[in-house]
Amino acid sequence: MKKILVTGGLGFIGSHTVVELQNEGFDVVIIDNLSNTTISVLDSITEITGKKPDYYNLDVRSKSDLKTFFDNNKVDGIIHFAAFKAVGESMEKPLDYYENNLSSLIYLLQEIKDRNLDNFIFSSSATVYGEADSLPLTEDAPVKKAESVYGNTKKIGEEIIRDASNAHNINTIALRYFNPIGSHETAKIGELPLGVPANLIPFVTQTAAGIREQLSVFGDDYPTEDGTAIRDYIHVVDLAKAHIAALKRLLNKDNKKSFEYFNVGTGKGTSVLEVIKTFEKVNNLKLNYKIVDRRPGDVMASYADTTTANRELNWKTEKSLEEALASAWKWQLQQK
Ligand code: WQD
Repeated sequence: MKKILVTGGLGFIGSHTVVELQNEGFDVVIIDNLSNTTISVLDSITEITGKKPDYYNLDVRSKSDLKTFFDNNKVDGIIHFAAFKAVGESMEKPLDYYENNLSSLIYLLQEIKDRNLDNFIFSSSATVYGEADSLPLTEDAPVKKAESVYGNTKKIGEEIIRDASNAHNINTIALRYFNPIGSHETAKIGELPLGVPANLIPFVTQTAAGIREQLSVFGDDYPTEDGTAIRDYIHVVDLAKAHIAALKRLLNKDNKKSFEYFNVGTGKGTSVLEVIKTFEKVNNLKLNYKIVDRRPGDVMASYADTTTANRELNWKTEKSLEEALASAWKWQLQQK
């Protein structure tokens, strides 16, 4: 049985990916320092899958802890989620973001090189494309100067991986996520935003739950049909499954190349107002919202051309926006 290390495996996307890995028969070992999640997620994963993954509470920034981990664990592949991800915070704490997101990546790649390990998957982001010159975004679209420090850690992260892959012959895939939303159908795992959510869907569900008074829609003067910005919202379970597809590609020798990157989205763009209307409809409630100014740094529209990912990974999304927004609400209702 293949053993896969998942860093950040108790986070939002990590936990959903661990569930899918276990469902597919992989052995999973998680590293997570609980900086943005709780240990109870481990129990939830165990409840869903009937199997408790191995777990180490350690910090990927600790080179010596990482060495000890690899001394004691032989793994066949690594999926690296562990990172800071708040765009706004990244502008206030750039050094923390560069240190956390890049040192952990470098240390992991050094271990991979030193031990002749292979098969590395990196959480990248569609934010590397910036404002699109044309839509939908293919993998050939130019990578732009990042709008945020967070985005820059993903851009630089990909460059580090590319160079390491080429020099040391490591097989790697970066998955450029569009906007992951929703939660597992059991509502046992989901997104756990700390404090006031910056992302749309957690803000929507918290407003519906009465935790926030009103949702602000950031701008209705974009040159889009209803004036609000467009994104590609992908159900987190579909996104988790893209990791399994990428892992299988890496584990299959015939398909190997040193560094590849894929767009992971639905291919469909949805405006903020469409999200709100769909959320209201599927969950049969009304959302209190108002239009405010644009949010600095936001792009007008971003959605994926998924042709390459669909073909090369033999993967496609299966879940609708309706399902994603229903699951997000079901998850919200579980929170105290
Ligand atoms: C979506 C749309 C907002 C909140 C960011 C990062 C990206 C990734 C995901 C991950 C935009 C609008 C939002 C609100 C609103 N990072 N909005 N009111 O900005 O596309 O992507 O998060 O970890 O790298 O850049 O996602 O969910 O913040 O916004 O109107 O209260 O909703 O303006 O159009 P974004 P988002």
